[in-house]
Amino acid sequence: MHPAGIFPIGLVGCGTVGTGVVRILQDSADLLTAQTGCTITLPQVVVRDPTRPRDVDLSHSSVSTSLDAILADNSIRAVVHVVGGTAGPRNDIIRLLQSGKDVITANKALLCAHGDELFSLAQSLGRTISFEAAVAGGIPVISTVCTALTANRIVSIEAILNGTSNFILTRMLDRRQVYHDVLQEAQQLGYAEADPAMDVDGSDAAQKLAILTRLAFGTVVPFDRIARQGIQNIDLQDLLAAADLGYRIKLLAVARLNSARLELSVQPTLVRADRSIAMTSGAHNFLAIEGDAVGVLKLAGAGAGRMPTASAVVADLVDCITGRAACTFNALLRLQQRNPLPLHPTADIARRQYLRFNVADRPHVLADLAHVLGRHGISISSVRQDETEDSADGTGVARLVILTHRASEGRLQAADNEIDCLDSLRGPRIRMPIAD
Ligand code: HSE
Repeated sequence: MHPAGIFPIGLVGCGTVGTGVVRILQDSADLLTAQTGCTITLPQVVVRDPTRPRDVDLSHSSVSTSLDAILADNSIRAVVHVVGGTAGPRNDIIRLLQSGKDVITANKALLCAHGDELFSLAQSLGRTISFEAAVAGGIPVISTVCTALTANRIVSIEAILNGTSNFILTRMLDRRQVYHDVLQEAQQLGYAEADPAMDVDGSDAAQKLAILTRLAFGTVVPFDRIARQGIQNIDLQDLLAAADLGYRIKLLAVARLNSARLELSVQPTLVRADRSIAMTSGAHNFLAIEGDAVGVLKLAGAGAGRMPTASAVVADLVDCITGRAACTFNALLRLQQRNPLPLHPTADIARRQYLRFNVADRPHVLADLAHVLGRHGISISSVRQDETEDSADGTGVARLVILTHRASEGRLQAADNEIDCLDSLRGPRIRMPIAD
């Protein structure tokens, strides 16, 4: 505890998450004092634009645009840094660590790009970096993996790690809305990243999966080496067709041990509608973590948004004050120093698949598609095509949904390449695995 019973902190960034942090510090001051034995104060706040209206009271803080104000304040020992981007936050955090301050961040892109450097620096300086909010928003998954599951070898993680894309997929199906309208709503609600492309193309989920993989499997994988596919080309008809077949489409992040190799992927996947992961709706995240001793553990909750993310940030702050952050940080340094696992070659992974094509409505088109699949040893398990208008000139478009039996990714990709050359295709096709 701070000798005077006061624990002054700094805050860098006062946007969606930062204002949520200020609100918890103010509204739950008594609770936080009970948790830490200290009164947490916020003497310094650093923002890009001090004139921007914020719905929190910063009248007891000095608000500036320069990190120097925090660096110069020796009474500040912990700093909440909630700013997006990588280059600026990296420089800030290096300076904060060098000036003897512990850092709390929610920035997964930063950890993916500069985690090794920042963790080593913090270790050499005897400081800590806490980042519970960087993965799955309000769900305490970092502390679960680093502390609660220490008796386990992790066997698999199957998860929904991006709230925005889950919100989009759920809303489209529940309200029969189109993709772009729902994406705008997700942005207005504060779920989406500044650049929502990261949410919908699978990058944000891949960054979070890379962080979990580092801790759960001791394997450092650059997030852009994780096979990933986004949700941009999924339309309402796909969601309805999947629902008709008894499935929900979810952007699934998977890290799984497979013959002592690590299988990693982020892709929209058909999941049986009665599974808990399929029932995860809105901006919620979900993780099923299998440990060899505990079995399957399921965590669910708000994965994005102001207050859930701030909840995880303030929990990290409490850990910093009580000393728990040092234990967790040391645990994660040890966890990521294990022998890295080799990656499972994607081409060898075999799964059932959902294929959807919009094709010219004329003779032999279905036969051509079936022929390509057959030649690559891919067996069809069902075919659906709704009745189309009778167009004598063959200008109509038919929508075909084909489910396949289990086939390897290598065979499927070879078939994809040939199918992409067929002149009967009309618009983007979709291929998604079906989870067993
Ligand atoms: N944009 C992220 C999401 C926020 O939608 O999950 C939390 O990282």
